[in-house]
Amino acid sequence: MPLRPGAESVARAIAQAGPGPLVLISRSGALRALARLREALPGASVHYAMKACGEQPLLLALAQAGCGFELASAGELPALAGVPVAADRLLCGNPVRASAQTAALYAAGVELFAADSPEEVVRTAQAAPGARLLLRLAVPLGDVASGCAAGAWWPMRDTFGATPEALPAIAAAATRHGADIVGVCFHVGSHCTDPQAWVRGVAAADDALRTLRVAGHPAQVLSLGGGFPPELDGNCGPVVATADAAGTATNGPQAPSIEGIGAALVPALAQLPPDVQLLAEPGRYLVASAGVLLTRVTAARTHRGARWLQLECGLHNGLIESSRGIPYRIRALRGSGARVAWRIAGPSCDGADVLPGEWLLPAGINEGDWLAIDGAAAYAQSRASAFNGLAGPVTRIVD
Ligand SMILES: Cc1ncc(COP(=O)(O)O)c(C=O)c1O
Repeated sequence: MPLRPGAESVARAIAQAGPGPLVLISRSGALRALARLREALPGASVHYAMKACGEQPLLLALAQAGCGFELASAGELPALAGVPVAADRLLCGNPVRASAQTAALYAAGVELFAADSPEEVVRTAQAAPGARLLLRLAVPLGDVASGCAAGAWWPMRDTFGATPEALPAIAAAATRHGADIVGVCFHVGSHCTDPQAWVRGVAAADDALRTLRVAGHPAQVLSLGGGFPPELDGNCGPVVATADAAGTATNGPQAPSIEGIGAALVPALAQLPPDVQLLAEPGRYLVASAGVLLTRVTAARTHRGARWLQLECGLHNGLIESSRGIPYRIRALRGSGARVAWRIAGPSCDGADVLPGEWLLPAGINEGDWLAIDGAAAYAQSRASAFNGLAGPVTRIVD
């Protein structure tokens, strides 16, 4: 049973739509995705990464289902007002923050912070005396044959994560400043298609937990981070450069299911010390599995011999993740004629506002027709700008 909003919800939303793109997220779909993730990762306490979509009805439903939350900044706190979640179910997974952000989060009750350098450990201890730390680890690079860097379409490895060599200095800095490192975390990169990336992360975490314990820290927590790819009916490739007659992406690795990731991980988790508490911080998996982005066509034209569609939603106002290859599936909700290859541009007057590749869509598609984009619901609103005066999507939680 699909997790995304059904045809009736989509039709109702379109009938009521004002100008601008829409993101629809099925509440029941997100909860079913959550149940699948919990079953695949037994014992993991889920902290939803709010940056994927901070809409209150979604946060409420997830909190009522027992989720905690992962925040990146104090700017995400207002969305939690009225959401029934205890402060000890909040964590800040952003490993580098302005001291004022750390202090504001701590004042709001957040006590668990990621850090990946001695400097950040010290700054956190100063801005939030008494806070507990999660040491963010680098995930060792595997033998990746797929088209996406390091197994993930949205890599994080160049920016964050301590290597094993850095651990002693970080542990010593924490000891000097009276801060407890209570565990470790990692992030394999978002929309990761390689289950072994989590397995490598768990092995690195196992070593790090033991090192930290020897150094005197009460290291007991392991957060597996996020990175879990969404369910896209098995039709999950990179942005379509070429597609078969059915419009199926053919040029990228299939994303594993959450059950496939769990099956790869469970034996690795069994090797950990028995008292380790497991966390997971999914964002994309819950939102993109249960959501769809809806956008009108604003123009169809020929340009230098190619067919071009312009959409109300483009890279600057919702689809920026296509620039790094996050896989979408684009469906015409109406439109006639044989399917032909289209190039797709966003609405702004900017040369970068173009989706990579070509897309098979009906030849008769035209201004006012609606397209549904699967795989684009997560991060669409939160990453959107109003460049050129063109607003990003409005998000509705339905079902
Ligand atoms: C610390 C942290 N946790 C969790 C997430 C969520 O990742 P994803 O949406 O890939 O599940 C992110 C995403 O940037 C993150 O930075």
